Amino acid sequence: MAATDVSKHGMWSSQWLFVLAAAGSAVGLGNIWKFPYMAGENGGGAFVVVYLLCVALIGIPIMMSEVLLGREGRLSPINTMRSLALKAKGSPLWVIVGWMGVLAGFLILSYYSMIAGWAFHYVLRLADGTFTGADGEFASQAFESFLVQPWQMIFWHTLFMAVTIFIVARGVSRGLEVAIKIFMPTLFVLMIVLVGYSMTSGGFAEGFAFMFNFDWARLSVDGVLQAMGHAFFTLSLGMGAIMAYGAYMPGSASIAKTVVAIAVLDTLVALAAGLVIFPIVFANGLEPGQGPGLMFVTMPLAFGQMPLGTLFGTAFFVLVSFAAITSAISLLEPALAFLVERYNAQRHRVAISLGVLCWVLGLGSVFSFNYWKDFHIVRELNFFSFVDYLSANVMLPLGGFLIVLFVGWVVPRAIVEEQMSLSRGFRNIAWQLLVRVVAPVGVLVVFGYQIYGSLN
Ligand code: PFF
Repeated sequence: MAATDVSKHGMWSSQWLFVLAAAGSAVGLGNIWKFPYMAGENGGGAFVVVYLLCVALIGIPIMMSEVLLGREGRLSPINTMRSLALKAKGSPLWVIVGWMGVLAGFLILSYYSMIAGWAFHYVLRLADGTFTGADGEFASQAFESFLVQPWQMIFWHTLFMAVTIFIVARGVSRGLEVAIKIFMPTLFVLMIVLVGYSMTSGGFAEGFAFMFNFDWARLSVDGVLQAMGHAFFTLSLGMGAIMAYGAYMPGSASIAKTVVAIAVLDTLVALAAGLVIFPIVFANGLEPGQGPGLMFVTMPLAFGQMPLGTLFGTAFFVLVSFAAITSAISLLEPALAFLVERYNAQRHRVAISLGVLCWVLGLGSVFSFNYWKDFHIVRELNFFSFVDYLSANVMLPLGGFLIVLFVGWVVPRAIVEEQMSLSRGFRNIAWQLLVRVVAPVGVLVVFGYQIYGSLN
């Protein structure tokens, strides 16, 4: 059993609530907004295959590792890493993994809030019928003209951050659990309805082929890194979010089963989002590689044409906003739990300070779509794309790599086996192989391929 059985920050009331909360963290803008546009930019099928392989062979073992570390340590990721490194007589430098995670969470939340703000704005636009009967040209124009108005974007970014702070300040079980219980199943049902709709939209066969026929030639070296980075991003791995949630997980629940359930749920939502969006793209002659605007152009267009579109469209953007909130909370939790432990500070004070800092950083992303559009930090990356690239494609995989090395090679086997309820035998061997070899080598191969590619 874990060293301590409860966390001072609170506990999930059951194993299922842990699954829902972790799925709430995993399922978010990454699935519905980011996955389709990244697949679109990287030529479809081959990107999807690499992403699925990364989820199965790298993501799942790393997620199990994060949960077990969290449950063993029962503290914020920074202090969990510190105390377990001490216990394992490892280097105190392992704590850096916790710090890097906090930084990555900050960077991600700063732009995540802006994109979620776009979704808020679209709730209103769908509710007021702006898109009823609209064509592709109109939907694209509407999005473009929204982006050039920083004040509107700042308003929604501010609102989203305020809501996130409010919920985080209330703590683990009050509010969050109740909301997740209602919204996650509704999101699921709506996605199924939308897949049903897109099957009849005329572009389904083409959309399906785009996602699942893989042509390696269309995937660049950088696309492979992006597919791996996205596997980390979508599962909320590599920065301690899942470790923080693991700290509130009841001692009796099975880590292996819950993690597989979370990863499967997350993957299904992403694939469903792709199967909704690409048929609409092809049926309307739109461009699959148009980047971050993809969801905001395709979905309003589809809702504008379908019966009851105003209702479904509004519901869709409400659910996307909600999925974003349940993820945003987990982006803040590692830093928040640490500050509460370190300074014995009150949750709401810490939540406000962290949220305000993130908000300021997010302004850089807002301006990347207007004032600073042509200001590039490296190569073609502007502020927003740079922050996204650095956090998702570099910091998360690096953090995940270190976490899985720590579990595979540093934490005493007895602790790991007890947390994972492993006895001797096949399951134990498979586990050892995954965490000691497959997952870390997988990350290294992708990083190595990227470096090799950039030298050539
Ligand atoms: N997994 C979230 C998504 O797919 O939208 C984003 C995210 C949340 C990334 C929490 C990282 C994290 F720690």
